[in-house]
Amino acid sequence: MLHQFLVLFFLCFNVVAHLFTSSALGEVITCSNIVPLKNRRYNISLTDFGGVGDGRTLNTKAFGEAIYQIQHMGREGGALLYIPPGVYLTESFNLTSRMTLYLAPGAVIKATQVTHNWPLVAPLPSYGRGRELPGGRYMSFIHGDGVNDVVITGENGTIDGQGDIWWNMWRKRTLQFTRPSLLELVNSTNIIISNVILINSPFWNLHPVYCSNVVVRFVTILAPHDSPNTDGIDPDSSSNVCIEDSYISTGDDLVAVKSGWDEYGIAYGRPSSDITIRRVNGTTPFSGIAVGSETSGGVENVLAEHINLCNMGVGIHIKTDSGRGGLIKNITVSDVYIENARKGIKISGDVGGHPDDKFDPKALPIVKDITIKNVRGVKVLQAGLIQGLRNAPFTDICLSGINFLGVKGTTRSPWKCSDVFGSSHQVSPWPCSELTSNQPGSCANHSQV
Ligand SMILES: *[C@@H]1O[C@H](CO)[C@@H](O)[C@H](O)[C@H]1NC(C)=O
Ligand SMILES: *[C@@H]1O[C@H](CO)[C@@H](O)[C@H](O)[C@H]1NC(C)=O
Ligand SMILES: *[C@@H]1O[C@H](CO)[C@@H](O)[C@H](O)[C@H]1NC(C)=O
Ligand SMILES: *[C@@H]1O[C@H](CO)[C@@H](O)[C@H](O)[C@H]1NC(C)=O
Ligand SMILES: *[C@@H]1O[C@H](CO)[C@@H](O)[C@H](O)[C@H]1NC(C)=O
Repeated sequence: MLHQFLVLFFLCFNVVAHLFTSSALGEVITCSNIVPLKNRRYNISLTDFGGVGDGRTLNTKAFGEAIYQIQHMGREGGALLYIPPGVYLTESFNLTSRMTLYLAPGAVIKATQVTHNWPLVAPLPSYGRGRELPGGRYMSFIHGDGVNDVVITGENGTIDGQGDIWWNMWRKRTLQFTRPSLLELVNSTNIIISNVILINSPFWNLHPVYCSNVVVRFVTILAPHDSPNTDGIDPDSSSNVCIEDSYISTGDDLVAVKSGWDEYGIAYGRPSSDITIRRVNGTTPFSGIAVGSETSGGVENVLAEHINLCNMGVGIHIKTDSGRGGLIKNITVSDVYIENARKGIKISGDVGGHPDDKFDPKALPIVKDITIKNVRGVKVLQAGLIQGLRNAPFTDICLSGINFLGVKGTTRSPWKCSDVFGSSHQVSPWPCSELTSNQPGSCANHSQV
């Protein structure tokens, strides 16, 4: 499966192999100093706790006991939990602070497909309910709540959510609660996820919510393109999140920065801020780099750069709605290559989808200071759709150095804009008048993260 993905991927990108890879002066910027990598005092193996990697034996007890031991090591503790090569079937489990979950080459942590006793957790306060259904949510397969200093790494072992059973329940509408994410970290700090492969998540893959200092690098995330809601990485009401050098191919948005849903997110009031996404590639029928649609706590200071997107719905997508509130500002997306997409850029204020009928339709989102620059696209059917709200127009939208080829000019205009103010510089095809006549020079003074 991995092999097939790589073949497809190279077919898409070999043309541009050297396009966006070298930075000025050859200095490569990385996330690595955001969370210091520590050596652990102890090294324990899952097999010390009765772990069996035969793909059939349930290892829930082994994971539980190993992690209990790490949790009770005392002040001088901190341990690496080594997962040897083999397939370790297990029910969902909780992480603890000061641990490294280390997957050896060929190690697979595999979710059980027995779902009737899957544990539930409370809804997130910023969502008020599960994202799919009212009430609680199935706990993520690997879960961390209130943890600090957690590393999930190794030599590209796999975490397999075996999500098809959940996707089918979703399709048949037999789910009772919102499906589990593969890996969710709630209210946690100093997290590193690196050199690991995530496959077949039941729902969103990697969901840090109410977290700070999160690094995701050298990660591969794969799920079929028809798997419902299998977002890649969703930083949610979190700050200082750095995602880099990763490949994501899923059934929903590759990276989507969020911050809560309508009246619940507004009341909780926790933004996502200082989010860096760089050197990420991928493919999905939905969006590549997204902000939204749940953005009620606000999203500020996002930088996405050196992104390669292939076979996409929408390349760059900022999405919100009336009733959502939230300030979305200082978003910069630069150095993007898009190949074969329905739309290059979409910024819209009418995405829809409310948690219940208690949202306040007068809670309008504010979208401003959006810079999109150095974007090249081939086989992009529509260049851009930028539609603000009549009573809350989007402002300081700056497009520069954008070139889309293959735009279908016959049936619709390449750019469609309304209720938006901004400017553009060297954009082809020629953008809408809202972005050519207003606010001259506003492109020049955009801020950076
Ligand atoms: C992303 O694509 C570029 C261009 O083909 C390539 O050089 C780079 O290695 C790829 N990175 C990842 C993480 O897939
Ligand atoms: C931890 O122990 C395993 C054997 O149980 C060994 O293979 C691995 O190299 C050790 N890791 C470290 C970082 O010492
Ligand atoms: C795992 O964490 C969740 C959420 O914090 C909690 O409800 C549950 O009891 C924990 N499960 C175990 C086995 O500790
Ligand atoms: C967040 O986690 C910390 C422990 O790291 C805990 O003290 C605090 O109560 C938690 N906050 C919430 C809202 O759960
Ligand atoms: C893991 O895979 C990544 C590609 O995503 C690669 O860059 C890295 O070298 C691999 N790491 C190991 C330890 O094999």
